[in-house]
Amino acid sequence: MGKKISIGALISGGGTNLQAIIDACESGMIDGKMVFVGSDNPDARGLERGVKHKIPTFVVNYKSIIQDYKKEPEQVILPDDFDLNDILSKQHLFSDNAATEKVKSFITTRAVAEAKLLEEMKSYPFDLLVLAGFMRNFTPYFIDRVNTDPGVQRIMNIHPALLPSFPGVDGYGDTFRYGCKVGGCTVHFVDYGEDSGPIIGQKAFQINEDDTLDSIKEKGLKLEWDLYTKCIQLVAQGRLKTVKMSYTLKNGKILQRTVVKIAQPA
Ligand code: GAR
Repeated sequence: MGKKISIGALISGGGTNLQAIIDACESGMIDGKMVFVGSDNPDARGLERGVKHKIPTFVVNYKSIIQDYKKEPEQVILPDDFDLNDILSKQHLFSDNAATEKVKSFITTRAVAEAKLLEEMKSYPFDLLVLAGFMRNFTPYFIDRVNTDPGVQRIMNIHPALLPSFPGVDGYGDTFRYGCKVGGCTVHFVDYGEDSGPIIGQKAFQINEDDTLDSIKEKGLKLEWDLYTKCIQLVAQGRLKTVKMSYTLKNGKILQRTVVKIAQPA
């Protein structure tokens, strides 16, 4: 067995994916060690899972940062290296790309929170950052400061739907309400959009007539725990790389997309 990778995790809620990853590190299914568990939410129940396993935990309270900004925007201290125009030009979280006041205040408050996250994370060097039910989108401010090595993607997310269908905050709910006959989950690297980054792995399940939203969530979560741990182990084994693909479509347009290639085990 080679060197173990250091893994940091961010969560917002119960942390069953976090638990699966911690367990897989402890059992050797992942050649890795969890070095911190952070949250945007002081009430995230998953923080206790970190404490139980003697993993350092921290909270950056996004909600209070956003409220403070709404009350007194001029009192909020922006990071020294904050460049709103640079972030606006890179992000594609907002489809119309208009730099409205709403978009600007979103980017600003998130970057303030992200600077605090980066500050907390500084104490725990990591190879891979896994989002395990972390319900916040990152701006390019954060992503660029984590992905400092060109071509090396270091932020992984799990999403409760078969992307690119149903990005956003309620993947299983959206799948169920749409009347899909198949649901699933996706692990992907994080890019400047919402749930739009290169896909690493996906697992699907059948949706039957007697399924409910609860039964779908139950089926999905079980697949998530397995899929997420396997995708993280691919990083530990050095088997993932991203490649920029270029395709000429029938109408002559060029489609470019960064995709993940998975190497055979050594
Ligand atoms: C999981 O279903 C995960 O896919 C989803 O939140 C849940 C967290 O559960 N993540 C997202 O929706 C991210 N946009 P957990 O806290 O028990 O791992």
